[in-house]
Amino acid sequence: MTRHLISSADLTRRDVEDILETAASMHDLQRREVKKVPTLRGRTVINFFFEDSTRTRSSFEIAGKWMSADTINLSAKGSSTSKGESLRDTAMTIDAMAVDALVIRHNASGACHQVAKWVRCSVINAGDGTHEHPTQALLDAYTLRTRLGDLDGRHVVIVGDLTHSRVFRSNVITLKTLGARVTVVAPPTLMPSGIGAWSEADGFATSWDLDAVLAGDDPVDAVMMLRVQRERMSAAYFPSAREYSRRYGLDARRMARLPEHAIVMHPGPMNRGLEITADAADSARSTIVEQVANGVSVRMAVLYLLLAGSDDHEEAPARSVLEGAR
Ligand code: NCD
Repeated sequence: MTRHLISSADLTRRDVEDILETAASMHDLQRREVKKVPTLRGRTVINFFFEDSTRTRSSFEIAGKWMSADTINLSAKGSSTSKGESLRDTAMTIDAMAVDALVIRHNASGACHQVAKWVRCSVINAGDGTHEHPTQALLDAYTLRTRLGDLDGRHVVIVGDLTHSRVFRSNVITLKTLGARVTVVAPPTLMPSGIGAWSEADGFATSWDLDAVLAGDDPVDAVMMLRVQRERMSAAYFPSAREYSRRYGLDARRMARLPEHAIVMHPGPMNRGLEITADAADSARSTIVEQVANGVSVRMAVLYLLLAGSDDHEEAPARSVLEGAR
């Protein structure tokens, strides 16, 4: 049976909780001297990254390797994609080699969804265009739960370049699935079209005014800053970097307005000095480095739950997780 992780919307609350619990049990491995378990021995995972990546690609690779899967990295440059091969032909070529999972990052929104229709192996979305990045949302939820406990009723504020952010889209879905309250903040030019209807349907708030949200009656438990994604911008979305930082950047002054327990997140890579200052990024309440470490455990959990199949892992906990994500 083929199972995929394409969208955060494919995961029920139970699925998310099972993944996070599995990730917690995987996390201990990071503290061991020998970081290797035989769980996925004999399975093959291909990481196919058509877009640049540091954290996501290396953490999927480490996750696979720590569980003894054979993990192979491919990128567009250096593969036949650079010779003009179509996504379909590339995907079917890889699938023909009896691989178990294809982890894909692609610049086209919907690419993973398409690939999942063409192949027999499991497909995991590692970021498709401006659409979704489900494992980032899972590692963010893991980090939030580690720091804040149950997310029911917690208030998470997501700030920045929403229009181009797949991290924002997956995070809103997963946070709502876990019962958190979400406010998203962006300049009007970086507020996605159609957000009014989406926020009404899914019950989250939107604002153009970060200071008003921070000073509001609803105490903030976490602020998630997003990168200004210049590589996806075809026009000028704000007057100047200085103007953006002044209105939407997280700095010491804004940090001081957060409740004592509130945490500061960023998926990375950061534009230091633009959406976040160095003192905010490196402060004791920043979880940015922790998010990276948690990314390995969450990706181990996802690979494990998708690949440690029904044969020799009959008794595996949460075996049915992601079943809805077919
Ligand atoms: C994000 C991505 O690629 O979508 N990074 C990540 O995976 N950690 C966010 C970004 O690039 O700004």
